[in-house]
Amino acid sequence: MAKKDAGWWDEFFPAFRPIFDKMPRRTTNAEVRFIIKKLNLRSGRKFLDCPCGIGRIALPMARQGIKVTGVDITESYLEELARKARARGLRLDLHRADMRRIDFDSQFDAAGNLWTSFGYFKKESDNLLVLKNLFKALKPGGKFMLHIINRDWIMANFEATDWYNVGDMKVLENRGFDFATSTSIGTWTFIRKGQERSYDNAIRMYSYHELLDMFRKVGFIDIEGWGSEKEEPISLRSRMMFVVGTRPGR
Ligand SMILES: C[S@@+](CC[C@H](N)C(=O)[O-])C[C@H]1O[C@@H](n2cnc3c(N)ncnc32)[C@H](O)[C@@H]1O
Repeated sequence: MAKKDAGWWDEFFPAFRPIFDKMPRRTTNAEVRFIIKKLNLRSGRKFLDCPCGIGRIALPMARQGIKVTGVDITESYLEELARKARARGLRLDLHRADMRRIDFDSQFDAAGNLWTSFGYFKKESDNLLVLKNLFKALKPGGKFMLHIINRDWIMANFEATDWYNVGDMKVLENRGFDFATSTSIGTWTFIRKGQERSYDNAIRMYSYHELLDMFRKVGFIDIEGWGSEKEEPISLRSRMMFVVGTRPGR
């Protein structure tokens, strides 16, 4: 990876791994069903999961016969995903890359950037670049979903600290907010067997209307958003948002 592309994610995500285990299977299954429905996916269609993490969504998709390409920057996640895919006899096309540097052209029936994997870059032009790259990766008529935390929910429910247990690990989240740049500034401390380590993150937060502007700017049409897999409208009560747009041209 080029040095100029280095950032908080390089140290944060390898340590974040146990947090995936906190996500209830029920939630992931509901998300997978919703994503498949809204992106018109079915067996044989090509889906780009960027970034794919440890395959929370990519693996159940592949199990349904969808041809999944996964991109992520965290090597240990890709290794784990490749191991799991092999063990289950599933074929996934995996690439290690920074999401700003992917260069797919008109290849996919659908793409997803899921579970707040967006807004990681200090330069807003880099965040927009990710959206442009994902747009370009789609075939004409292809659909893209962004699944992301709702800034307006954060503002209504802001808590400067939170702590919880994941297995034998204690996690303490300290959160600040930079209002000038709409950036959530976090320090996560992981404590296990008396050992303590802290990692920083800085994630640009978006309201729905800003995402609509960005989607339009990039060229998406037929843009729609929901506040849950139950298709509720986005409101102050929606913690997460699902925003879908279509690449025109078919
Ligand atoms: C919150 S996880 C979500 C993973 C997956 N989409 C899911 O729903 O389980 C965010 C992912 O972004 C990846 N990531 C962080 N920075 C990245 C970058 N610059 N380029 C590509 N992937 C990145 C991390 O390794 C991690 O897997």
